Amino acid sequence: MRSAFGKRLEVTIYGESHGDRIGTVIKGFPAGFAPDMDRIYAFMERRAPGRDAFSTSRREPDIPKVASGIINGLTDGRPLEAYIENTNQHSSDYDKLRYTPRPSHADLPARMKYGDELDLRGGGHFSGRLTAPLCFAGALCLQFLAARGITVGGHIYSIAGVNDRPFDPVKVSKDDFDELLKRPFPVLDTKAGKQMQLEILGARSKLDSVGGVIEVAVLGLPMGLGTPLYGGIESMLAANLFGVPAVKGVEFGSGFSAALMKGSENNDPYCVTEDGKIRTLTNNAGGVLGAITTGMPLIVRTAIKPTPSIALPQQTVDLRSMTETELTITGRHDPCIVPRAVPVIEAMTAITVTDMILSEV
Ligand SMILES: Cc1cc2nc3c(=O)[nH]c(=O)nc-3n(C[C@H](O)[C@H](O)[C@H](O)COP(=O)(O)O)c2cc1C
Repeated sequence: MRSAFGKRLEVTIYGESHGDRIGTVIKGFPAGFAPDMDRIYAFMERRAPGRDAFSTSRREPDIPKVASGIINGLTDGRPLEAYIENTNQHSSDYDKLRYTPRPSHADLPARMKYGDELDLRGGGHFSGRLTAPLCFAGALCLQFLAARGITVGGHIYSIAGVNDRPFDPVKVSKDDFDELLKRPFPVLDTKAGKQMQLEILGARSKLDSVGGVIEVAVLGLPMGLGTPLYGGIESMLAANLFGVPAVKGVEFGSGFSAALMKGSENNDPYCVTEDGKIRTLTNNAGGVLGAITTGMPLIVRTAIKPTPSIALPQQTVDLRSMTETELTITGRHDPCIVPRAVPVIEAMTAITVTDMILSEV
């Protein structure tokens, strides 16, 4: 297993859900940068479980420790390693799952590929828990980008078919991001947010789960970031976002709805701003043309599937007898992953954009 991505900035994620620790090794981050550790902790706190009624009761302190790469408060150009000790595992919840793979988890294909000894307790290396060190790397990159006037923000676009107001793809601003950060449930339309929360609680009461879509915008990108076609921001970002557990779809700008539009509706007419810059009146392109950034806000939406661990009985196969059997999953699971995944998607976006900026020089 490699579990690494990136070109100039290479991020490796290591560990297992129920092992001693999980962590990240970040190679290629520039020397001489002073990360604000409190802001990194605050960012990671947005992903941590057990913070509200909509997520699992599994509460973990998730305080990252830096093992190398930062000295006297400054990055020193070495590979930067940060890790989190696992402290709150209930491994016995998983004993009975050893021979009965959980539907919609990686249990079966991972076991077939890597063998019976692979530690799959709590999802092992495939667990959503591995997104905690990813958020460390993302929080660092967010600060790197902010120092260059680039900001990343996200919100819950929909849950169980209930839609938030989308970002205005032309006028979305840092004020929108700041407002969302103040909200424990990050939506622009709080009424829609209440309805989403009812959907989550309804699913939980039925021992089921729901999914949704996260919308992220990146502001302050220059025109011209990315290389044509294969090394562009769409392909890099989509590839990395699909590495986040539970991601099932990625679209930019008008995305799949572009297929339903006429050219006259989907094209973005050009205009000149008061300060003499070329912009577009609309932004169906989502800030990218020919795989190169246009200087308009980058708009990306990511579909998250319903939490696979549900308490309802499900059909599976007993690998010892090769007979069909019924499985009931116990343990602590979010009835909806989407709220906790918002910072994860922001983190992956920030890492990818940082890698692309470092790759340009
Ligand atoms: C932040 C986050 C938290 C997650 N928490 C859970 C969880 O509590 N229970 C669960 O069954 N899946 C959870 N997942 C999703 C699974 O890890 C994922 O669906 C599974 O490993 C299979 O991978 P795939 O969906 O990418 O194919 C979480 C994902 C993320 C991003």
